[in-house]
Amino acid sequence: MTALDFAAETMRRRTFAIISHPDAGKTTITEKLLLFGGAIQMAGTVKGRKSTRHATSDWMAMEKERGISVSSSVMQFPYKDHIVNLLDTPGHEDFSEDTYRVLTAVDSALMVIDVAKGVEARTIKLMDVCRLRDTPIISFINKMDREGKEPLELLDEIESVLKIRCAPITWPIGMGKRFKGVYHLYEDRVILYGPSLPTRAQSKTEIKGLNNPELDELLGDQADELRMEIELVQGAADTYDHDAYLRGELSPVYFGSAMNNFGVQELLDGFVEAAPGPQPRPSTAREVLPTEDKFSGFVFKIQANMDPQHRDRIAFFRICSGKFSRGMKVKHVRLNRDIKIPDALTFMSSDRERLEEAFPGDIIGIHNHGTIRIGDTFTEGERLAFTGIPNFAPELFRRARLRDPLKSKQLLKGLSQLCEEGATQLYKPMINNDLILGAVGVLQFEVVSERLKTEYSVDCQFEQVNVTTARWIECDDPKRLEEFKDKNEANLALDHAGDLVYIAPTRVNLQMAQERWKDVRFLATREHG
Ligand code: G4P
Repeated sequence: MTALDFAAETMRRRTFAIISHPDAGKTTITEKLLLFGGAIQMAGTVKGRKSTRHATSDWMAMEKERGISVSSSVMQFPYKDHIVNLLDTPGHEDFSEDTYRVLTAVDSALMVIDVAKGVEARTIKLMDVCRLRDTPIISFINKMDREGKEPLELLDEIESVLKIRCAPITWPIGMGKRFKGVYHLYEDRVILYGPSLPTRAQSKTEIKGLNNPELDELLGDQADELRMEIELVQGAADTYDHDAYLRGELSPVYFGSAMNNFGVQELLDGFVEAAPGPQPRPSTAREVLPTEDKFSGFVFKIQANMDPQHRDRIAFFRICSGKFSRGMKVKHVRLNRDIKIPDALTFMSSDRERLEEAFPGDIIGIHNHGTIRIGDTFTEGERLAFTGIPNFAPELFRRARLRDPLKSKQLLKGLSQLCEEGATQLYKPMINNDLILGAVGVLQFEVVSERLKTEYSVDCQFEQVNVTTARWIECDDPKRLEEFKDKNEANLALDHAGDLVYIAPTRVNLQMAQERWKDVRFLATREHG
């Protein structure tokens, strides 16, 4: 492959995630994007929504959630001249850490907003995360087939609440029962939709030019209403500025109804055109450019037992530079060891397929046998580590209590493997054989307990334990560290990766320890690696 071909392959990648408040329509729009991308043939295959709606407990809802992310953590499909990589983000807020890390692996995001509900709590949080890296955002206002807020009002709301300028690219024609289609402000064409079909073929009529008399024939009074509205919009709303979009300062906005397939193709066309290809990535040594010919990338997610039949653990790896070919040897930077990747996975629609080669922007799945951690960097030899993929110290702690003591080995294995995923942390105190689990959200304990049962046949409950907070410990002076360990044995533990952690019974205790040991660092977040 020539350097030119490599650059072209790289630049045609579009790697993104959808951010939204639950119920805004993320799943529906994912499904439609896959449909337009030809990755699935019929709508309704992303999840069996109807059958799972009867879920009774929270846990069942989580299982459903997991059901989606298992089959569709990463979806790759070709669209026009592009290769699109869509990364799923978990919807539930107890999984926000996972979402945070997924967002470090994308080059842009699509924000879905419910026209009736406007900007919601979770959208605000996710937007804050995107802002940390100035991720470019495209917006889709969904559910235009329902009555909702006035479009101009909604744009104002996005601008003031989310602090990002909005430039409408399409504009809705009517709303609710009167929603007829969209007008493309920059291509001066009107797209009117017919009844929605479950297949890709969408019955729609396109009319060139807002002043085309055909429009009056088809829309009646609504044609003049539209013309007046567009005049108003062109005066009141921001115009699209591509550089401002790439800087994360301005969001192009599309309107439609994902459920009915309205406006989705216009969104996808606009997205592949405008969204950035693979971006440069910061590392401990330097900024790595996607077009560099040497391979590099990082692990942003680990998932255990994706396929219950194979009981495998998959590390999701974002390629940052160079080409990946099957069987290639790479340097595992943290371990300073060369490893071979014989059987990476790609993620075409819901099937995991064997992969021969992959390019910057692509996500590959690597089998993890316990040596890979979230945040790990692989290169072709250079000693650098990608930065910005943190782990957060949990705030909730429980002790694992086993029903059958003979299963303790199995419990340890299960907990260690599930903790590799990063949503929970395992602590093994230095002074006893307890297994303490730390999590950011309380739902995690239920999920772990349920997964231990189904995936490892271990019946285990989580009970209160006298730990309030945890800090990773670092100290540059090895002698001083030994002294610290000696004096604080009762409050020290090792996490699942073998790193030293201070587990404090109270915040005051932590404060006192910090004051007493000024040369020891107590870290609430930690960069992996
Ligand atoms: P999420 O992944 O963001 O949580 O949202 P999801 O796509 O599951 O959509 C949430 C609900 O909103 C679903 O309804 C879905 O059908 C509906 N929806 C999505 N897009 C549109 C749209 O353009 N218009 C309208 N009117 N509704 C839309 P549900 O009743 O919860 O599920 P279902 O029984 O309809 O499948």
